[in-house]
Amino acid sequence: MAADLLRFAGRFLRHPMQVGAVAPSSRYLARAMVEGLEVGPGQAVVEFGPGTGAFTEAIRTRLGQSARYLGVERDGAFAAMLRRRFAGLQFVEDSAEQAPRLVREAGLGPVAAIICGLPFASLPPRVQDGVIAAVDALLGPGGEFRTFQYAHAWPLPTAVRYRRRMAAILGPPHRRGPIWRNLPPAFVLAWRKPGRSSAVDRSPPPVA
Ligand SMILES: C[S@@+](CC[C@H](N)C(=O)[O-])C[C@H]1O[C@@H](n2cnc3c(N)ncnc32)[C@H](O)[C@@H]1O
Repeated sequence: MAADLLRFAGRFLRHPMQVGAVAPSSRYLARAMVEGLEVGPGQAVVEFGPGTGAFTEAIRTRLGQSARYLGVERDGAFAAMLRRRFAGLQFVEDSAEQAPRLVREAGLGPVAAIICGLPFASLPPRVQDGVIAAVDALLGPGGEFRTFQYAHAWPLPTAVRYRRRMAAILGPPHRRGPIWRNLPPAFVLAWRKPGRSSAVDRSPPPVA
């Protein structure tokens, strides 16, 4: 949507490292981010960095209106826009590092999945580590964490650092892509916490 593109580019110019992209994700990347995702009754999905809602829309389509959902968005202008666009879904203006407390305060049940749109390669190490700790604290056995990384940023030291830190707690990711129909092309990365859960489907993992 042209309005989203303009809004997104405007926020990028104000906070380039925090927004981390010049354009919202495409519907192709959004679809790949939620493919096969299933959340059991009473379980929740948490989204980090929804921006203008590209993944939020895909989550809502996949899980339906009754999904238990919390979006954590640091940018106040995005958060206000998301509340208008997705009435019925809950958004807080805060950092993803605070997600365990925010989920508790929202009274949400166990978190089956975290869908993450954060620009990890451009986040300071302190924030990266805080978010990784939040993922570890939030996900129960069988819970899934999905994020994406731009193909061109894959070898950057900050991106490598992030993947290593994630692997230290959740093992190697399943990688899918690149999804070419996105600006820029991106890989989808998925980690699942060991253990059994009925929340996430048992379909084969994304292509490694
Ligand atoms: C690359 S954009 C992705 C937006 C959207 N998910 C998409 O794919 O189009 C990154 C988003 O993460 C948000 N963000 C950055 N750091 C954050 C943090 N520590 N906690 C929550 N949101 C953050 C930015 O404001 C921005 O909306």
